[in-house]
Amino acid sequence: MKKFLISALLVAFAATPVLAAAPDSVTLEAKNGNVTFNHKAHAAAMECAACHGAGTPGKLELDKDTAHKTCTGCHKEKAAGPTKCGECHKK
Ligand code: HEC
Ligand code: HEC
Ligand code: HEC
Repeated sequence: MKKFLISALLVAFAATPVLAAAPDSVTLEAKNGNVTFNHKAHAAAMECAACHGAGTPGKLELDKDTAHKTCTGCHKEKAAGPTKCGECHKK
């Protein structure tokens, strides 16, 4: 059922160019070095809501606190993915 819903969503995205397509890679700007991550791999491995919260995924405002809580929080919990500053922030 969930698989079906996701394919239905993807079809909806393809059919309505007004909606932003989910990006393969996302770069978030930060003074101490931009953070680039594989959006496609993350989106395939977990619920969109893990980052986007409830509702249709789209523009997402992250700040230092929310990003560290969401991103580093999960990496620590799963003991996978970067947790050191320089592994995410690249100058
Ligand atoms: C899992 C990846 C990740 C790790 C690990 C991480 N950060 Fe971040 N950090 C981010 C993201 C994402 C943002 C939010 C960027 C944005 O505002 O869009 C951010 C934001 C920040 C900002 C705010 C930058 C600005 O321009 O406002 C600072 C400062 C910062 N981090 C410092 C650190 C330090 C120090 C560490 C190590 C203790 C660290 N970060 C570890 C991902 C990470
Ligand atoms: C690991 C966290 C994470 C997951 C999981 C995730 N996203 Fe994202 N997504 C982001 C971030 C961060 C951005 C960049 C937001 C920005 O630049 O405003 C983004 C951007 C997007 C955008 C572009 C928005 C725009 O207007 O530029 C779309 C569409 C999107 N995501 C859809 C999805 C869908 C659909 C899923 C689930 C299949 C998903 N995302 C899962 C973090 C995530
Ligand atoms: C719900 C769990 C979860 C969340 C939320 C999450 N990640 Fe990850 N992330 C992972 C896991 C698991 C891996 C390791 C994947 C692997 O090694 O195959 C990973 C790997 C990464 C990597 C290294 C591989 C790559 O994608 O380039 C980066 C960088 C990264 N995450 C950044 C982020 C950022 C930035 C956010 C927040 C916007 C975020 N992650 C949110 C689970 C998560």
